[in-house]
Amino acid sequence: MTQELYREGLAYAEQNFLDENASHLHVDKKLIREKFDLNGKKVLDFGSGMGGMSLWYATHWDCQVLAVDIDRHHISIANELKVRHGVKNVKFEIRNILEEPLEEQFDFIVLNDVAEHIQFPILTEIFKMLSSSLAPGGFVFVTYPPWKSPYASHVQHVIGIPWCQFLPQGILLKLIEKNNRRIVGEEESDLLEAYRGLNHLTHEKLMKVIEGSGLKPVFRKSHSFINNIPGLKNLNLRVFPLDFLVTKEFLLLEK
Ligand SMILES: C[S@@+](CC[C@H](N)C(=O)[O-])C[C@H]1O[C@@H](n2cnc3c(N)ncnc32)[C@H](O)[C@@H]1O
Repeated sequence: MTQELYREGLAYAEQNFLDENASHLHVDKKLIREKFDLNGKKVLDFGSGMGGMSLWYATHWDCQVLAVDIDRHHISIANELKVRHGVKNVKFEIRNILEEPLEEQFDFIVLNDVAEHIQFPILTEIFKMLSSSLAPGGFVFVTYPPWKSPYASHVQHVIGIPWCQFLPQGILLKLIEKNNRRIVGEEESDLLEAYRGLNHLTHEKLMKVIEGSGLKPVFRKSHSFINNIPGLKNLNLRVFPLDFLVTKEFLLLEK
C-alpha cells in the first residue's frame, strides 16, 4: 500500500469515526443510537475495515469491542486511529473466523456494509459461526446497500451513473477499467476487484443465507432519502419501483 493510499484511508476512517453526519453512515449511527444501549455489552464488529465504526461504538458506550477483519491493511489503519485517539476498550484483530474461531460470546454483533462483499457459501458459514458466538439475549445487526440501490455497485461515484450495476456487464466493466484506481485493501486492491467481489445481496438472498444458522429476523428497516420528505416517513418502499430508491437495508436478528 502506498503512503498516499494509507493517508487517504486514515482520513476516511477518522471521518467515519468522528463525524455523526458522515454521508453513508448517518442513518446507521442514528438508528443504532435510538435502538440500542451498548453499555456493559460485549460488541463484535465483524468486518470492521479501517475501524471507524468500531471506534465510534467504543467511545459512545462503556462497552468492550472486538473488531475483526481479514485484511491486514485495514486493521493497520484501525490500530493507528485507536492509538491516535487513545481508545482503550477496542481491540482490532486480523482474523478469518472460519479458520480461527472466536472464543468469546458477544451481546451485539454488527456487520456494517460487510455482508454484500462475501460470497454466499462463505457468508452462510460465517452466520453459523456468529450465531454460535451470540450470548443469550444478544443480537446480530446487519446493514447493507441492497442490490437495487443506486449505490450498490460501489463504483457509481467514479463512473458517475447511479444504478450502473444494471448496465450491460461488458460496458460497465470497460467503464470501471477506464476509471479504475487502487483502494486500501489487500483482498480487494482496486475498484474492479471490489465490484467483482460483490454478491448482489437482497433481503431474500440474505434470508436464505441465515437459514440453518439458528438466527431469525426481529426487525427490518428499508431506508431511502424519500423517507426524509415530510409526510413520507412511513412510505412502504418494498414495492416496485420504489424498491429501487432504497439505499440501505437494516436487519436485526436474534436466536
Ligand atoms: C466495505 S468494508 C466495511 C468496513 C466497516 N464495517 C465499515 O463500515 O466501515 C467491508 C470489510 O469486510 C471485510 N471482510 C470481507 N470478507 C471478510 C471475512 N471473511 N472476514 C472478515 N472480514 C471480511 C473486508 O476486508 C472489508 O474491510
